[in-house]
Amino acid sequence: MKYMTTAEIREKYLAFFEEKGCKRMPSSSLIPDDPSLLLTSAGMVQFKPYFLHQKELDPAYIGTTTAQKCVRTNDIDNIGDARHLSFFEMMGNFSFGKYFKNEMCAWAFEFSTEVLGLPAEKLYFTVFEDDDETIEIWKSLGVPEDHISRLGEDDNFWRAGPTGPCGPCSEIYFDQGPEVGCGSPDCKPGCDCDRYLEFWNCVFTQFDGQEDGTLAPLLTKNIDTGMGLERIAAIMQGVTNNYDTDVLRSLVGVGERLAGKTYKQDAAVDKSLRIIADHSRSVTFMIADG
Ligand code: SER
Repeated sequence: MKYMTTAEIREKYLAFFEEKGCKRMPSSSLIPDDPSLLLTSAGMVQFKPYFLHQKELDPAYIGTTTAQKCVRTNDIDNIGDARHLSFFEMMGNFSFGKYFKNEMCAWAFEFSTEVLGLPAEKLYFTVFEDDDETIEIWKSLGVPEDHISRLGEDDNFWRAGPTGPCGPCSEIYFDQGPEVGCGSPDCKPGCDCDRYLEFWNCVFTQFDGQEDGTLAPLLTKNIDTGMGLERIAAIMQGVTNNYDTDVLRSLVGVGERLAGKTYKQDAAVDKSLRIIADHSRSVTFMIADG
């Protein structure tokens, strides 16, 4: 595994999916054109009309790829720990009926192991409850059975809000080692500790969530994937805290200078410096987007 800057990873991801036939598109605004959402919280938000086939992609492409700026507030109380951010960039690729699970899983595996060079033995995969099909696909790519597990709706069914395109998902985790874990004999992907870091979520967007809570099938079977850029940057830079990466460490440094404090001397100060770095970044991008 070779050190990569955040900028290098972003470009490698976009170029990889462009090569597969996806159209590289710009990030959309953090203020979505969508009455069901306050903020753009995921890469799929700008593509909701495509999943619903209200808009069609140029047929020259099989899908799209983006680096989407996102703001998420549901994890607000966890910000300042090693892996939660209110503002983050999500590397995504999206299919509106042209490619599905087989291609998606194969490409996610290829990008992770060949382009990023992640050791396959450190990768773990989760699937939604009864999704045997995705288990078989990961196995066909060489993933051993004991690196695949099933999780329920909280972890492995993804939706942006109460209504709209959604579906079961399969997540990819990187084992950061027992030294950053909780030590529990039950520790496994999905555990709240930092050992198994989820860095890529592959959503099989097949349903349109209705106001009454039911799931209507979408016209096509679609893909929405999101790889957390700051999390993968931490992995590629050999650090176990997102705030120790090239981009975020420099923002923590601004806080150190302004506050006259030194990072990594006092745990409470460190957490505050991380929160200031995160929240300043969010607010700056939100103001910029109006
Ligand atoms: N929409 C999914 C997520 O945000 C995958 O992109 O995790």
